[in-house]
Amino acid sequence: MAQMKVRKAVFPAAGMGTRFLPATKATPKEMLCLVDKPLIQYGVEEAVAAGCTEIIIVTGRGKTTMEDHFDKSAELEASLEARGKTALLEVARSVSKLAKITYTRQPEALGLGHAVLMAKELVGNEPFCVLLPDDIVDASTPCMKQMVEAFNETQSSILGSEVVEGDAISAYGCLDCTPDAANPRLLAVKDMVEKPKPGTQPSQNAIIGRYILTPRIFEMIETITPGAGGELQLTDAIKALLQHEKVYGFTYEGKRHDAGDKQGFLRATVELALKNDKLGPDFRSWLKQLPL
Ligand code: UTP
Repeated sequence: MAQMKVRKAVFPAAGMGTRFLPATKATPKEMLCLVDKPLIQYGVEEAVAAGCTEIIIVTGRGKTTMEDHFDKSAELEASLEARGKTALLEVARSVSKLAKITYTRQPEALGLGHAVLMAKELVGNEPFCVLLPDDIVDASTPCMKQMVEAFNETQSSILGSEVVEGDAISAYGCLDCTPDAANPRLLAVKDMVEKPKPGTQPSQNAIIGRYILTPRIFEMIETITPGAGGELQLTDAIKALLQHEKVYGFTYEGKRHDAGDKQGFLRATVELALKNDKLGPDFRSWLKQLPL
């Protein structure tokens, strides 16, 4: 069989963002600004760096600012050009030139699995990435690029994974898995448990918001019934996929921030601001003089 290539990335972005209220009452969570750009842009840049040329964003009501963000802004560009602000003009232009972006809507937030299903026609019969935009992964090689390289070896679905120590694993989907002999970052998945009770976890390997899935996942989503919270859970569909195909976990190199959570967002802001070439040095000196 011909080698399958990953070209498309799906961004489920139709959730309600309740953990971040009131900020997310009228502003999409994915448009919250981390240092100097919205969360969703970090994800899109990561997918592009991984070789994806087609981006599919699953949106819902009240999410149009996302479309405006990635669209050409003729007025803004004309104004920056007229004032000779060439560096800022380049920044504005580069956002709209990142990739080919298509939008599809999820009429109701019926779960992550349901959101992914909304992209079925646009994805077609090929493997694709899923990136949850509120998981920000800071890594020297972008997380999805690492995963695409692993997919090129395995040609199987791959779930981004990290080791979460102790009972904190109970907040995550957890893998029952064994490390691959040839590549210890790859974990052969036997089963998955959503939010295991403390002490019952099969491993400390948590699933994070990065996936590469084979197109058979759509068939699986169509067969599962609503799970936790009455939602169609992507984890349930991946469990069903395990009955037909190999699935791997992948322990990526890097650091993840849960920017969909207030505390996680604050931490990500400080860490990424400190690393920012332009803002970092001043920000560091300012932080140091705070009476902490
Ligand atoms: P989350 O559970 O983190 O997002 O889903 P949420 O539901 O918006 O947030 P809280 O928990 O209420 O604060 C992960 C991703 O899946 C998308 C979300 O937009 C988010 O990017 N999602 C979730 C959908 O697109 N549709 C859904 O039905 C559920």
